[in-house]
Amino acid sequence: MRKALVALALLSASVTAADLPLIPLPKEVKTGEGSFAVTAETGIRFDAALANEAKVFSAELKARTGHEPKAVREELRIMLPSEIRLDLDSSLALQPGGYTLEASPKGVVIKGKDATGAWNGTRTLLQLLPLEGGKSIPAVSIKDEPRFGWRGMHLDVGRHFFPVENIKGFIDWLAFHKMNTFHWHLTEDQGWRIEIKKYPKLTEIGAWRDSSPPYGNRNSDDGKRYGGFYTQEQIKEVVAYAKARHITIVPEIDMPGHMAAAIAAYPQFGNSDIPGYAPKVIGRWGVHPYTLAPTEEAFRFVDDVLTEVCALFPSEYIHIGGDEAPKGQWESSPRVKELMKKVGLKNGHDVQSYFIKRVEKMLEKKGRKLIGWDEIREGGLAPSATVMCWQGDGVKAAVDSVREGHDVVMAPNHRLYFDHYQRPEKSELAKGPEFETIGGFRPVSNVYDYDPVPTGLTPDQQKHVLGVQGQLWTEYMHDWKKVEYMAFPRIAALAEIAWSPADKKNYEGFRGRLDGIMKHYDAAKVNRAEPYDPPKRETADGSTVTTSLGIYQEHWPEFAYDGKPETFFWVNRELKENDHLTVAFKEPKSGKVTVKTGGEASQNGDKLDGGVLEASADGSTWKEVAAFEGGAASGALPTGTKQLRIRVTKPQKNWLIIHEIEVQP
Ligand code: ACM
Repeated sequence: MRKALVALALLSASVTAADLPLIPLPKEVKTGEGSFAVTAETGIRFDAALANEAKVFSAELKARTGHEPKAVREELRIMLPSEIRLDLDSSLALQPGGYTLEASPKGVVIKGKDATGAWNGTRTLLQLLPLEGGKSIPAVSIKDEPRFGWRGMHLDVGRHFFPVENIKGFIDWLAFHKMNTFHWHLTEDQGWRIEIKKYPKLTEIGAWRDSSPPYGNRNSDDGKRYGGFYTQEQIKEVVAYAKARHITIVPEIDMPGHMAAAIAAYPQFGNSDIPGYAPKVIGRWGVHPYTLAPTEEAFRFVDDVLTEVCALFPSEYIHIGGDEAPKGQWESSPRVKELMKKVGLKNGHDVQSYFIKRVEKMLEKKGRKLIGWDEIREGGLAPSATVMCWQGDGVKAAVDSVREGHDVVMAPNHRLYFDHYQRPEKSELAKGPEFETIGGFRPVSNVYDYDPVPTGLTPDQQKHVLGVQGQLWTEYMHDWKKVEYMAFPRIAALAEIAWSPADKKNYEGFRGRLDGIMKHYDAAKVNRAEPYDPPKRETADGSTVTTSLGIYQEHWPEFAYDGKPETFFWVNRELKENDHLTVAFKEPKSGKVTVKTGGEASQNGDKLDGGVLEASADGSTWKEVAAFEGGAASGALPTGTKQLRIRVTKPQKNWLIIHEIEVQP
């Protein structure tokens, strides 16, 4: 229905801003009369400074319309029968990356505050261009600018490796949604993926592991050699491709932990003086003990690697990881213990801080800024570090870092880790073991609801929140199809929270526009997931539900009386006598009541063994309506029943599932 409405609205003249299938939602949209037809005659007239943008955009239009638009520089004054203009206007009162787009039956004019703004305007135009039928753009007037300067997406190519073509395709989708940062997680315990000329063994040895856990059994080994890496030529190609699409690639070389693959190649840079030292490229997921040693020899290695990384990646920021570095090896290494005494480091956290501060100095010498995961706070932050806040909801690390004067990027595990399920786990796994994820539940609505600015910051402090980023850790993404399945369509929700004004946020509106955007994914054969909208926590008729019982996951008590047989209340503990679930009806009830408890065998039965159904007209005196037998009860509600309760009369070890309370007048 919603799809039909959007299609209909686009055909008619009465198109409203809410009907336009744009994600992220622009700051201001006014719709006009009529539309602009993109035909074989349509050309692009561009400001000379936008030659690159015009070239890429022209190829994209050709792919969608079948016609290569003639592209002419503005000053050439060549007449075009129908034109899309790409202009620059630095005087626009917009943030960097902002633009205006005016489409009328006569033509389209995109004006960028800067080249990135003009590029972003072309992204809007691509989204306005219908995928099917006539290629007409509705008359609109758009003024748009980003909310945040860091609109990022991360991808782990260490756990699984993905070819250059996939990376380029991904960059196109990031650009499609006006994202501007691709965080390329290039090194891991399970594989080193970037060629470093000075240390060839990093890829000869470090890019290959002997085994990986198969889907469906994370604590086992498939015994298959696995690996791959990007040559420096390939990296240059990807960096140039991203630059032409206004995407900055922030490379990550994760240290001092998550370094087992590098240490397997060059054991001397690890804590080689501890007993039982035998590094290898790891074939299991999780956190592993191998850390770089804080020795001068290891720092020279890091400096050399970063020199080559900086030569390949022009980004202002270099990500040095810093996450999940176990301190055990340092604490048992005689060499590190000696250093700790000499330099005055009390514990492993101090060693971590010493390490990160040394690396910060190296990057400063190369004219770059250090960014790391929030564990770089351990033992004290390096003076000019930027913190990527990931643990839990990221708020504590963010607030503490900002109050200490640091910039942060919000990338919280609890909201923006796209390795969690976006549909119910059980039905996903029923489709096959390849649908396995690391766990957790993060439907698209949960991503959309996230606001990146933690509460408790002053307006000045809020400026330190550079932006927001989604994460794709790939332990459970063995191939590109699975990466797409996990990324799409959550990436659209991420793009909107990163770009659109907070006061315009509206999930219903977003879901309507998402239907239009998903057609682009489908046309490109992206293996997206079908968005799953969890049932709302509400009763069927506005009645209220209270309970003495604990709630398992998101199986809310209201689901016992919501008129939907597929939802249910699930208790998370054993039952005691007099535990209850009580419905206070919005309107007094009478008639027949039936209650069913218990789930499937996989839910352990979880029936109510001993209990009664009781009714009350005043909330204090109760009359028994029925007793439970075989997990079910049914009886007649007295006229004027205001409250109905299920009361436990016999303690039970099993938890309880209440499927539905049904009242028939
Ligand atoms: C992380 O998830 N280890 C940053």
